[in-house]
Amino acid sequence: MSTTPQIRESRQWRGVIREYADRLDVTDATPIVTLGEGGTPLLPAPALSARTGANVWVKFEGMNPTGSFKDRGMTMAVTKGVEAGAKAIICASTGNTSASAAAYAAHAGITAAVLVPEGKIAMGKLSQAIAHNGRLLQVRGNFDDCLEIARELADNYPVHLVNSVNNDRIEGQKTAAFEVVEVLRDAPDFHIVPVGNAGNYTAYHRGYSEELQRGATTRMPRMFGFQAAGSAPIVLGHVVKDPDTIASAIRIGNPASWELAIAARENSDGFFGAIDDARILEAQRILSAEVGIFVEPASAISVAGLLEQAEAGVIGKGATVVLTVTGHGLKDPQWALRTSDGSDIQPESVAVDTAEIADVLGLAKA
Ligand code: F0G
Repeated sequence: MSTTPQIRESRQWRGVIREYADRLDVTDATPIVTLGEGGTPLLPAPALSARTGANVWVKFEGMNPTGSFKDRGMTMAVTKGVEAGAKAIICASTGNTSASAAAYAAHAGITAAVLVPEGKIAMGKLSQAIAHNGRLLQVRGNFDDCLEIARELADNYPVHLVNSVNNDRIEGQKTAAFEVVEVLRDAPDFHIVPVGNAGNYTAYHRGYSEELQRGATTRMPRMFGFQAAGSAPIVLGHVVKDPDTIASAIRIGNPASWELAIAARENSDGFFGAIDDARILEAQRILSAEVGIFVEPASAISVAGLLEQAEAGVIGKGATVVLTVTGHGLKDPQWALRTSDGSDIQPESVAVDTAEIADVLGLAKA
Protein backbone atom coordinates (compact mmCIF):
# COMPACT_ATOMS: atom_id res chain seq x y z
CA MET A 1 0.00 0.00 0.00
CA SER A 2 1.26 3.46 -0.79
CA THR A 3 2.02 5.70 2.14
CA THR A 4 1.51 8.82 0.06
CA PRO A 5 -1.67 10.53 1.26
CA GLN A 6 -4.30 10.41 -1.45
CA ILE A 7 -6.44 13.47 -0.80
CA ARG A 8 -9.03 13.42 -3.57
CA GLU A 9 -11.96 15.26 -2.11
CA SER A 10 -10.57 17.37 0.66
CA ARG A 11 -12.63 19.99 2.40
CA GLN A 12 -9.48 21.47 3.89
CA TRP A 13 -9.33 25.24 3.55
CA ARG A 14 -6.61 26.11 1.05
CA GLY A 15 -5.45 29.49 2.35
CA VAL A 16 -6.67 32.90 1.21
CA ILE A 17 -4.78 33.07 -2.09
CA ARG A 18 -6.18 29.81 -3.46
CA GLU A 19 -9.65 30.45 -2.03
CA TYR A 20 -9.82 33.95 -3.53
CA ALA A 21 -7.41 33.62 -6.48
CA ASP A 22 -9.82 35.39 -8.84
CA ARG A 23 -9.85 38.46 -6.60
CA LEU A 24 -6.12 38.77 -5.97
CA ASP A 25 -3.19 39.64 -8.23
CA VAL A 26 -1.93 36.10 -8.83
CA THR A 27 -1.64 33.77 -11.83
CA ASP A 28 -1.40 30.00 -12.27
CA ALA A 29 2.37 30.42 -12.27
CA THR A 30 2.53 32.31 -8.95
CA PRO A 31 4.51 30.30 -6.36
CA ILE A 32 1.98 30.41 -3.53
CA VAL A 33 3.43 30.50 -0.01
CA THR A 34 0.67 29.52 2.41
CA LEU A 35 0.25 28.08 5.89
CA GLY A 36 -3.50 27.67 5.45
CA GLU A 37 -4.42 31.13 6.77
CA GLY A 38 -7.95 32.57 6.65
CA GLY A 39 -11.23 30.70 6.88
CA THR A 40 -11.46 31.86 10.49
CA PRO A 41 -14.69 31.47 12.46
CA LEU A 42 -17.29 34.23 12.56
CA LEU A 43 -18.93 33.48 15.87
CA PRO A 44 -22.16 34.82 17.34
CA ALA A 45 -21.53 36.43 20.74
CA PRO A 46 -24.79 36.09 22.69
CA ALA A 47 -23.35 37.70 25.83
CA LEU A 48 -22.37 40.81 23.87
CA SER A 49 -25.72 40.86 22.08
CA ALA A 50 -27.45 40.70 25.48
CA ARG A 51 -25.34 43.55 26.82
CA THR A 52 -25.96 45.81 23.82
CA GLY A 53 -29.21 44.78 22.16
CA ALA A 54 -27.28 44.55 18.90
CA ASN A 55 -26.71 41.41 16.87
CA VAL A 56 -23.01 40.86 17.58
CA TRP A 57 -20.58 38.59 15.72
CA VAL A 58 -16.89 38.07 16.41
CA LYS A 59 -14.39 37.39 13.63
CA PHE A 60 -11.80 35.38 15.55
CA GLU A 61 -8.51 36.08 13.79
CA GLY A 62 -6.50 34.47 16.55
CA MET A 63 -7.37 31.22 14.75
CA ASN A 64 -4.87 31.96 11.97
CA PRO A 65 -1.69 29.81 11.79
CA THR A 66 0.53 32.21 13.75
CA GLY A 67 -2.36 33.42 15.88
CA SER A 68 -3.13 36.76 14.26
CA PHE A 69 -4.75 38.36 11.20
CA LYS A 70 -1.29 39.26 9.89
CA ASP A 71 -1.09 35.86 8.17
CA ARG A 72 -3.69 36.90 5.58
CA GLY A 73 -1.48 39.73 4.39
CA MET A 74 1.77 37.85 4.88
CA THR A 75 0.81 35.00 2.53
CA MET A 76 0.33 37.62 -0.21
CA ALA A 77 3.39 39.73 0.66
CA VAL A 78 5.74 36.74 0.82
CA THR A 79 4.21 35.08 -2.26
CA LYS A 80 4.59 38.24 -4.34
CA GLY A 81 8.06 38.81 -2.90
CA VAL A 82 9.20 35.30 -3.86
CA GLU A 83 7.57 35.71 -7.28
CA ALA A 84 9.69 38.83 -7.77
CA GLY A 85 12.84 36.95 -6.73
CA ALA A 86 13.25 38.16 -3.15
CA LYS A 87 15.62 36.11 -0.98
CA ALA A 88 15.07 38.14 2.18
CA ILE A 89 12.20 40.07 3.69
CA ILE A 90 12.20 42.76 6.33
CA CYS A 91 9.61 44.32 8.61
CA ALA A 92 9.18 46.51 11.65
CA SER A 93 6.79 45.11 14.19
CA THR A 94 5.06 45.37 17.54
CA GLY A 95 5.21 41.56 17.52
CA ASN A 96 2.57 39.90 15.39
CA THR A 97 3.93 40.95 12.02
CA SER A 98 7.36 39.67 13.04
CA ALA A 99 5.93 36.29 14.08
CA SER A 100 4.04 35.99 10.81
CA ALA A 101 6.90 37.19 8.60
CA ALA A 102 9.32 34.73 10.21
CA ALA A 103 6.90 31.81 9.78
CA TYR A 104 6.11 32.51 6.12
CA ALA A 105 9.78 33.14 5.31
CA ALA A 106 10.69 29.82 6.97
CA HIS A 107 8.05 28.04 4.90
CA ALA A 108 9.33 29.68 1.71
CA GLY A 109 12.96 28.94 2.55
CA ILE A 110 14.00 32.59 2.60
CA THR A 111 15.31 34.88 5.34
CA ALA A 112 13.27 37.24 7.53
CA ALA A 113 14.82 40.15 9.39
CA VAL A 114 12.54 41.80 11.91
CA LEU A 115 12.98 45.02 13.86
CA VAL A 116 11.06 45.34 17.11
CA PRO A 117 11.03 47.99 19.85
CA GLU A 118 13.25 46.70 22.65
CA GLY A 119 11.36 45.40 25.67
CA LYS A 120 8.00 46.37 24.17
CA ILE A 121 6.71 43.23 22.52
CA ALA A 122 4.89 40.33 24.14
CA MET A 123 6.89 37.22 25.03
CA GLY A 124 4.75 34.88 22.91
CA LYS A 125 5.41 36.93 19.78
CA LEU A 126 9.12 37.26 20.47
CA SER A 127 9.30 33.48 20.93
CA GLN A 128 7.46 32.86 17.67
CA ALA A 129 9.78 35.06 15.61
CA ILE A 130 12.82 33.30 17.06
CA ALA A 131 11.27 29.82 16.79
CA HIS A 132 10.66 30.44 13.09
CA ASN A 133 14.33 31.39 12.66
CA GLY A 134 13.73 35.10 12.15
CA ARG A 135 16.72 37.39 12.51
CA LEU A 136 15.19 39.46 15.28
CA LEU A 137 16.79 42.73 16.33
CA GLN A 138 15.54 44.70 19.31
CA VAL A 139 15.88 48.35 18.43
CA ARG A 140 16.34 50.85 21.24
CA GLY A 141 13.46 52.97 20.02
CA ASN A 142 9.72 52.63 19.39
CA PHE A 143 7.76 50.99 16.55
CA ASP A 144 7.72 54.18 14.49
CA ASP A 145 11.55 54.29 14.57
CA CYS A 146 11.65 50.62 13.50
CA LEU A 147 9.35 51.25 10.54
CA GLU A 148 11.40 54.19 9.33
CA ILE A 149 14.57 52.07 9.36
CA ALA A 150 12.84 49.09 7.71
CA ARG A 151 11.70 51.38 4.88
CA GLU A 152 15.21 52.82 4.47
CA LEU A 153 16.73 49.34 4.38
CA ALA A 154 14.22 48.17 1.76
CA ASP A 155 14.93 51.27 -0.35
CA ASN A 156 18.69 50.80 -0.28
CA TYR A 157 19.43 47.09 0.23
CA PRO A 158 18.20 43.81 -1.30
CA VAL A 159 15.43 43.17 1.22
CA HIS A 160 11.71 43.07 0.47
CA LEU A 161 9.50 45.13 2.80
CA VAL A 162 6.47 43.24 4.17
CA ASN A 163 4.92 45.89 6.40
CA SER A 164 1.43 47.03 5.46
CA VAL A 165 2.87 49.95 3.47
CA ASN A 166 3.33 47.08 0.97
CA ASN A 167 -0.04 46.97 -0.81
CA ASP A 168 0.12 43.16 -1.09
CA ARG A 169 -0.46 43.02 2.66
CA ILE A 170 -3.68 45.03 2.40
CA GLU A 171 -4.80 42.90 -0.55
CA GLY A 172 -4.42 39.70 1.45
CA GLN A 173 -6.14 41.17 4.48
CA LYS A 174 -9.19 42.34 2.52
CA THR A 175 -10.21 38.66 2.25
CA ALA A 176 -11.50 38.79 5.83
CA ALA A 177 -14.34 41.03 4.63
CA PHE A 178 -15.15 38.48 1.89
CA GLU A 179 -15.46 35.77 4.54
CA VAL A 180 -17.80 37.88 6.67
CA VAL A 181 -20.06 38.51 3.67
CA GLU A 182 -20.10 34.79 2.83
CA VAL A 183 -21.47 34.00 6.29
CA LEU A 184 -23.87 36.93 6.78
CA ARG A 185 -24.95 37.01 3.12
CA ASP A 186 -24.57 40.79 3.30
CA ALA A 187 -22.30 43.35 4.96
CA PRO A 188 -23.02 44.13 8.63
CA ASP A 189 -24.27 47.57 9.70
CA PHE A 190 -21.08 48.21 11.67
CA HIS A 191 -17.63 46.68 11.53
CA ILE A 192 -15.23 47.37 14.41
CA VAL A 193 -11.46 46.87 14.36
CA PRO A 194 -8.48 47.78 16.56
CA VAL A 195 -6.23 50.38 14.94
CA GLY A 196 -2.44 50.65 15.00
CA ASN A 197 -1.08 51.47 11.56
CA ALA A 198 -4.67 51.42 10.27
CA GLY A 199 -3.73 48.87 7.61
CA ASN A 200 -6.41 46.42 8.64
CA TYR A 201 -9.08 49.13 8.85
CA THR A 202 -8.12 50.06 5.29
CA ALA A 203 -8.15 46.42 4.19
CA TYR A 204 -11.66 45.69 5.48
CA HIS A 205 -12.92 48.84 3.83
CA ARG A 206 -11.41 47.72 0.54
CA GLY A 207 -12.88 44.22 0.89
CA TYR A 208 -16.35 45.56 1.60
CA SER A 209 -16.08 48.10 -1.24
CA GLU A 210 -15.31 45.31 -3.68
CA GLU A 211 -18.23 43.24 -2.39
CA LEU A 212 -20.60 46.18 -2.81
CA GLN A 213 -19.27 46.88 -6.28
CA ARG A 214 -19.83 43.32 -7.50
CA GLY A 215 -23.32 43.29 -6.03
CA ALA A 216 -22.70 40.73 -3.28
CA THR A 217 -23.88 43.19 -0.61
CA THR A 218 -26.47 45.94 -0.28
CA ARG A 219 -24.49 48.34 1.89
CA MET A 220 -21.12 49.56 3.13
CA PRO A 221 -20.73 48.92 6.83
CA ARG A 222 -19.89 51.89 9.01
CA MET A 223 -16.21 51.26 9.77
CA PHE A 224 -15.37 51.96 13.42
CA GLY A 225 -11.72 51.87 14.51
CA PHE A 226 -10.33 52.16 18.03
CA GLN A 227 -6.93 53.21 19.28
CA ALA A 228 -5.56 53.00 22.81
CA ALA A 229 -5.97 56.32 24.62
CA GLY A 230 -2.21 56.71 25.20
CA SER A 231 -1.53 55.98 21.56
CA ALA A 232 -4.30 57.61 19.55
CA PRO A 233 -2.76 59.79 16.82
CA ILE A 234 -5.69 59.48 14.40
CA VAL A 235 -8.21 60.47 17.06
CA LEU A 236 -6.03 63.38 18.24
CA GLY A 237 -5.15 64.45 14.71
CA HIS A 238 -1.41 64.56 15.33
CA VAL A 239 1.61 62.25 15.69
CA VAL A 240 2.10 60.91 19.23
CA LYS A 241 5.82 61.03 20.02
CA ASP A 242 5.83 58.64 22.97
CA PRO A 243 2.88 56.30 22.53
CA ASP A 244 2.01 54.27 25.60
CA THR A 245 -0.51 51.49 26.31
CA ILE A 246 -0.56 47.97 27.73
CA ALA A 247 -1.95 46.95 24.32
CA SER A 248 1.58 46.69 22.93
CA ALA A 249 0.40 45.53 19.48
CA ILE A 250 -1.11 48.95 18.80
CA ARG A 251 1.47 51.15 20.52
CA ILE A 252 1.98 53.24 17.39
CA GLY A 253 2.30 57.02 17.23
CA ASN A 254 2.50 57.61 13.49
CA PRO A 255 0.27 55.17 11.56
CA ALA A 256 1.53 54.12 8.14
CA SER A 257 -1.94 54.00 6.54
CA TRP A 258 -3.23 57.21 8.15
CA GLU A 259 -4.46 58.90 4.97
CA LEU A 260 -6.04 55.77 3.52
CA ALA A 261 -7.85 55.25 6.80
CA ILE A 262 -9.24 58.79 6.85
CA ALA A 263 -10.54 58.27 3.31
CA ALA A 264 -12.11 54.95 4.36
CA ARG A 265 -13.77 56.58 7.35
CA GLU A 266 -15.24 59.31 5.16
CA ASN A 267 -16.48 56.86 2.59
CA SER A 268 -18.13 54.59 5.16
CA ASP A 269 -19.53 57.21 7.54
CA GLY A 270 -17.11 55.69 10.01
CA PHE A 271 -15.52 56.70 13.27
CA PHE A 272 -12.25 56.60 15.20
CA GLY A 273 -12.32 56.49 18.99
CA ALA A 274 -9.89 56.06 21.89
CA ILE A 275 -10.22 53.63 24.80
CA ASP A 276 -8.16 53.67 28.00
CA ASP A 277 -6.19 50.66 29.22
CA ALA A 278 -8.53 49.81 32.11
CA ARG A 279 -11.47 49.55 29.69
CA ILE A 280 -9.40 47.41 27.33
CA LEU A 281 -8.61 44.90 30.09
CA GLU A 282 -12.22 44.90 31.27
CA ALA A 283 -13.37 44.11 27.73
CA GLN A 284 -10.75 41.37 27.36
CA ARG A 285 -12.15 39.72 30.47
CA ILE A 286 -15.77 40.02 29.31
CA LEU A 287 -14.89 38.34 26.02
CA SER A 288 -12.94 35.51 27.63
CA ALA A 289 -15.28 34.92 30.58
CA GLU A 290 -18.66 35.44 28.88
CA VAL A 291 -18.09 34.51 25.25
CA GLY A 292 -15.25 31.99 25.54
CA ILE A 293 -12.86 33.78 23.20
CA PHE A 294 -9.40 34.67 24.53
CA VAL A 295 -7.69 37.55 22.78
CA GLU A 296 -4.71 39.75 23.41
CA PRO A 297 -5.39 43.22 24.88
CA ALA A 298 -5.14 45.10 21.55
CA SER A 299 -7.87 42.90 20.12
CA ALA A 300 -10.19 43.46 23.06
CA ILE A 301 -10.41 47.13 22.15
CA SER A 302 -13.03 46.13 19.55
CA VAL A 303 -15.24 44.85 22.36
CA ALA A 304 -14.63 47.96 24.47
CA GLY A 305 -15.49 50.13 21.47
CA LEU A 306 -18.73 48.22 20.92
CA LEU A 307 -19.80 48.60 24.55
CA GLU A 308 -19.00 52.33 24.53
CA GLN A 309 -20.80 53.04 21.28
CA ALA A 310 -23.84 50.94 22.20
CA GLU A 311 -24.11 52.77 25.50
CA ALA A 312 -23.89 56.10 23.67
CA GLY A 313 -26.74 54.96 21.42
CA VAL A 314 -24.66 55.19 18.25
CA ILE A 315 -24.87 51.44 17.72
CA GLY A 316 -28.58 50.85 18.04
CA LYS A 317 -30.64 47.87 19.13
CA GLY A 318 -30.95 45.28 16.40
CA ALA A 319 -27.94 46.53 14.42
CA THR A 320 -25.70 43.81 13.02
CA VAL A 321 -22.16 44.34 14.25
CA VAL A 322 -18.99 42.44 13.42
CA LEU A 323 -16.00 42.81 15.73
CA THR A 324 -12.63 41.71 14.49
CA VAL A 325 -10.49 40.36 17.29
CA THR A 326 -7.06 40.38 15.76
CA GLY A 327 -4.72 38.24 17.88
CA HIS A 328 -4.86 35.23 20.20
CA GLY A 329 -4.77 35.69 23.97
CA LEU A 330 -2.01 33.11 24.33
CA LYS A 331 0.46 35.51 22.73
CA ASP A 332 0.36 37.83 25.72
CA PRO A 333 -1.33 35.86 28.50
CA GLN A 334 -0.04 37.71 31.54
CA TRP A 335 -2.93 40.23 31.55
CA ALA A 336 -5.46 37.52 32.29
CA LEU A 337 -3.71 36.81 35.58
CA ARG A 338 -4.24 40.29 36.91
CA THR A 339 -7.30 41.76 38.61
CA SER A 340 -8.74 45.09 37.47
CA ASP A 341 -6.99 46.85 40.39
CA GLY A 342 -3.65 45.47 39.19
CA SER A 343 -3.01 42.74 41.76
CA ASP A 344 -1.93 39.24 40.73
CA ILE A 345 -4.42 36.40 40.58
CA GLN A 346 -3.10 33.35 42.44
CA PRO A 347 -4.83 30.08 41.53
CA GLU A 348 -5.91 28.24 44.69
CA SER A 349 -3.82 25.31 45.91
CA VAL A 350 -5.45 22.22 47.43
CA ALA A 351 -4.41 18.84 48.83
CA VAL A 352 -4.90 15.50 47.03
CA ASP A 353 -8.20 15.09 48.84
CA THR A 354 -11.60 14.68 47.15
CA ALA A 355 -13.61 15.84 50.17
CA GLU A 356 -11.50 18.98 50.59
CA ILE A 357 -11.75 19.82 46.89
CA ALA A 358 -15.52 19.26 46.93
CA ASP A 359 -15.70 21.59 49.89
CA VAL A 360 -13.58 24.28 48.23
CA LEU A 361 -15.78 24.02 45.13
CA GLY A 362 -18.88 24.36 47.28
CA LEU A 363 -20.25 20.99 46.16
CA ALA A 364 -22.82 19.28 48.35
CA LYS A 365 -22.99 15.48 48.14
CA ALA A 366 -25.81 14.23 45.90
N1 F0G B 1 -4.31 44.01 16.57
C1 F0G B 1 -3.17 43.34 16.67
C2 F0G B 1 -3.16 42.11 17.53
C3 F0G B 1 -2.01 43.78 16.01
O1 F0G B 1 -0.88 43.09 16.12
C4 F0G B 1 -2.08 44.95 15.23
C5 F0G B 1 -0.91 45.46 14.54
C6 F0G B 1 -3.31 45.61 15.14
C7 F0G B 1 -4.40 45.12 15.82
C8 F0G B 1 -3.50 46.85 14.37
O2 F0G B 1 -3.51 46.61 12.99
O3 F0G B 1 -1.67 48.11 12.31
O4 F0G B 1 -3.31 47.22 10.65
O5 F0G B 1 -3.99 48.93 12.32
N2 F0G B 1 0.24 44.99 14.67
C9 F0G B 1 1.41 45.36 13.88
C10 F0G B 1 2.56 44.41 14.15
C11 F0G B 1 1.78 46.78 13.97
O6 F0G B 1 3.71 44.78 13.97
O7 F0G B 1 2.31 43.26 14.51
P1 F0G B 1 -3.11 47.78 12.00
